[in-house]
Amino acid sequence: MKFKHILTAVSLTLLCQITSAQITKTIEASEQKEKRMEWFHQAKLGIFIHWGIYAVNGVSESWSFYNNYLPYDEYMKQAQGFTASKYNPAEWVRLIKESGAKYTVITTKHHDGVALWDTKVGELSVVKSTPAKRDLLALFVKEVRKQDLKLGFYYSLLDWSHPDYPNKTKTETRYKDDEARWKRFQTFNFAQLEELNSRWKPDLYWFDGDWEQSAERWDSKGIVELLRGKTKDVIINSRIQGYGDYATPEQGVPVVRPKDKYWELCMTMNDSWGYQPTDKNYKSSNILLRTFVDCLSNGGNMLLDIAPKEDGTLPEEQVQILKDFGRWTAKHKEAIYDTQAGIPSEHFQGYTSLNKGKDILYLYLPYRPNGIVEIKGLVNKVNRVWVVGNGTMLNYKVHNKNYWSGVPGNLYIYVPEHVLDKDITVLAVLLDGPIELYRGEGKVIENN
Ligand code: GLC
Repeated sequence: MKFKHILTAVSLTLLCQITSAQITKTIEASEQKEKRMEWFHQAKLGIFIHWGIYAVNGVSESWSFYNNYLPYDEYMKQAQGFTASKYNPAEWVRLIKESGAKYTVITTKHHDGVALWDTKVGELSVVKSTPAKRDLLALFVKEVRKQDLKLGFYYSLLDWSHPDYPNKTKTETRYKDDEARWKRFQTFNFAQLEELNSRWKPDLYWFDGDWEQSAERWDSKGIVELLRGKTKDVIINSRIQGYGDYATPEQGVPVVRPKDKYWELCMTMNDSWGYQPTDKNYKSSNILLRTFVDCLSNGGNMLLDIAPKEDGTLPEEQVQILKDFGRWTAKHKEAIYDTQAGIPSEHFQGYTSLNKGKDILYLYLPYRPNGIVEIKGLVNKVNRVWVVGNGTMLNYKVHNKNYWSGVPGNLYIYVPEHVLDKDITVLAVLLDGPIELYRGEGKVIENN
């Protein structure tokens, strides 16, 4: 009996120790993640680059053969026309920096399996299979590092060209159950990632195509361990079946704030990721900037895509958009980097964000305010309001505030026409301390 009691006590102590060890481990892991995500959270704008043999005929990247819009062999023939003859990575990076982006993510390999670097483990690469004959990735990385941007590698986990990958197109399957072949593919995937990782140690991996297999099949855990083995703080996006650091909504702007603290909206300038000259459906810079402040307002990043031509030059529409972003981001930097998600929309009809100390509220006005903008439910006293990037101090006044009521009044800020930005005007509202909001339903006045 006594022995039984001792045993229970020992097991309970052990259990407590294990649980507390687990809790410590979880806390450590989440602190580590916060640290690792710091630069990403402050970066706000990234430029995505989709560059591959699909630019030769201007067909959709990889999907065009997968969806049988053209036969696989025809698609692959584009390799013969991929020259990179005017490739100037220094100019690309200069433009990316000019846009205000703090990081860039390039397709090292899309679903078609053609590597942009001189891979030693695969048959398909721009070096071996195209007249470009150079390691285009190496040249890009060199410039990114030189000009001090953060470096991201897009890598497609699935490879529809690989002889040991089960699927080739929507209608053509190489095999169903063949563990030996799958193992060979896995070894190949790990070897390519090992090449990328040990040679360039990027700051971020942007996986794609995870939907075709499970985490066990990809060995997502093993991949993460492989990558973090070299670069402990490398950031990994969500598309690796549950093992990533941040969410990657695509094209559609989230309406409700994403649950993940860290997220990034990837978005095209027209309707295509790769270069498609027939796609002239470009969004205006103004619309793309609105989307950008929408992301800021919800605490996320935007990863805006550019699509170089086969010779390495950029379509002029895309260059213009990068420059337009540059104008706006240079003027408004104080209200971009290092901000966090803003206040609920009931308080302000528009996009908002907060500085780190939460005592500056930024209001983004993508419209002409017709003289006045209004904030509701602000408990704080306002110390001053100015126009970001312009400096003009603005007049403001609180109405509907009675001294006996705890319900804050409405803050009206007077915005003259001459301070308006041609795209989006930003106001900074300096508060007397971290923001406090009244979220009630109002009150009956019982005592005047
Ligand atoms: C999609 C597509 C791909 C594109 C990517 C970018 O998942 O498969 O073509 O590269 O999104 O986000």
